Amino acid sequence: MSSIKAWQVQATSRFAEVGLLSPQTDARELLKFVLRLDDTALFLSSDREVSETQAAQLLALIDARAARIPLQHLLDEVEWGGVRLKSDGRALIPRPETEWLLHLALEALHGTVNPRVLDVGTGTGALALGIKFARSDAAVTATDISTEALALAQENATLNGLDVQFVQADLFRGISGSFDLIVSNPPYLPDTDQHSADPEVRHDPDLALYAGADGLSVARPLLAQVRAVLAQAGSTVGGVLLLELDPRNAPTLAAEARTLGAEAEVLPDLAGRERFVRVSWPTPALRT
Ligand SMILES: C[S@@+](CC[C@H](N)C(=O)[O-])C[C@H]1O[C@@H](n2cnc3c(N)ncnc32)[C@H](O)[C@@H]1O
Repeated sequence: MSSIKAWQVQATSRFAEVGLLSPQTDARELLKFVLRLDDTALFLSSDREVSETQAAQLLALIDARAARIPLQHLLDEVEWGGVRLKSDGRALIPRPETEWLLHLALEALHGTVNPRVLDVGTGTGALALGIKFARSDAAVTATDISTEALALAQENATLNGLDVQFVQADLFRGISGSFDLIVSNPPYLPDTDQHSADPEVRHDPDLALYAGADGLSVARPLLAQVRAVLAQAGSTVGGVLLLELDPRNAPTLAAEARTLGAEAEVLPDLAGRERFVRVSWPTPALRT
């Protein structure tokens, strides 16, 4: 038997040895998870002994994390955008930068009533559930091409008690109705990034990450098709598309949107990188 403090030291040094970026945080999160303690209780109980059962569980989790299984896959759930999300190999681990896309989406919905929102490529359901949590009056639909991701997103909707309609679809195929706001964090990395991906990123599905030579093989057809599903006159938002992209290709997609007659603006993430594109049409979109 060893104390919590001893486990913390041991796990941190093991994680540092294998090159984890935040060894101390990872060690603390695993201890909190196994011992069911919050930050303060963990700190105040550092001399407490860990039971044999807890020690066995900790050993297994420390081995898994040292083997570069993502922390989010080892914990029961993660907090993201105000909701709790279970995360596993079925879908992309929701990223912190996407919380800013959620913020931009909620900003776009400000002052609206009963908006209709579509999240294309929902993964764990992060954006759709974050929007529904903040805006209970919104009718939120979420799609994904992956049935596995949709199953996880549905589990997450149940976990949070939120009512979102999930539909399996390749982009907008089979989607009926029109939407005031469409959000999407599509796969956007150039295929060549696969060679340099961190070990943890290899636990995300390739389908969620890579999109052709320039990373736009999903976003480009999405942009081409979006007008047909954006709301016409009478929309409370005016028919807006908000996309998360890679700083290497967001300006390209915005320029392509302008050639289609749209207004397009590149917006920075919190680190100042050109990550988001806001697309709207100056006149109400016509159904095609
Ligand atoms: C980068 S992940 C984003 C997941 C989630 N929205 C998030 O922000 O955490 C992209 C998602 O798009 C889905 N996807 C890829 N191609 C698609 C397509 N053609 N139509 C619909 N979804 C697609 C993937 O399965 C994946 O779940």
